[in-house]
Amino acid sequence: MYQVLEQAKVVWEANSELINFCQIEGSLRSNNLRPTTTIGSSLVTKANYHASKENMPLIRAIKNHANEASWLQTYSTSEVGEDFSNRHCYFELIGPKGHFYAEKIRVFICYWGEHLNYKWHSHEAEEMYYILGGKARFRTKTMKKILKAGDTQIHKSWESHSMDTLEEPMLAFILWRGNGLNQLAKIDE
Ligand SMILES: [Fe+2]
Repeated sequence: MYQVLEQAKVVWEANSELINFCQIEGSLRSNNLRPTTTIGSSLVTKANYHASKENMPLIRAIKNHANEASWLQTYSTSEVGEDFSNRHCYFELIGPKGHFYAEKIRVFICYWGEHLNYKWHSHEAEEMYYILGGKARFRTKTMKKILKAGDTQIHKSWESHSMDTLEEPMLAFILWRGNGLNQLAKIDE
C-alpha cells in the first residue's frame, strides 16, 4: 500500500484544491490493516478509467495493489439496493482507521460501477470529491453538474448530495475533514 500512498502524494502536490482542503503529512505510520474483499472489489482492477496522464500512475498503483487493500461497503442492501451494494466499494487510505494513520482527515479511495445511482445522503464531515478516472453526474439541492477526471466538488457539513455514474466506472478520492470524522454517511431518502 506504500506505492499507493506515494502516488497519492504526487497527485496531491500537483493540485492546489487538494492541498487547500487538507494536507497529507510527510511520514504516516502504517496501521497494518489486513486485506479484505467485498463483492465488488474485484471489479476495480478489471475496469479501464478515462483519466489524465498525471493520474495514471496512481490509478495503476491502485489496480496493482488492490489485493492489499481493506475494501469496504458499509451500506445495507435495504438502504441502497443490491446492485449498488455489489458494484460500489472503497477503502480508507489515510485516517483514524485507514491503512495509514491520521487523526484529523480521512482519505478514501472509492469505486463505482457504471450506471449506478448513489442516493441522496449526508454526513457531518465536510467533504471533497476528486475524480481520478471516469465521470459522474453530481447533484446538491442547488446544483447539478458532470464531474470528470481531475474535477473537484465540495460538500458542506450535512449538505445532502447524490450522484449517478454514467456509461463508465469511476474511481475517486473522497476526503473528509472537520466534525463527525468517525461517523458514516446516512441515506436521506
Ligand atoms: Fe458525501
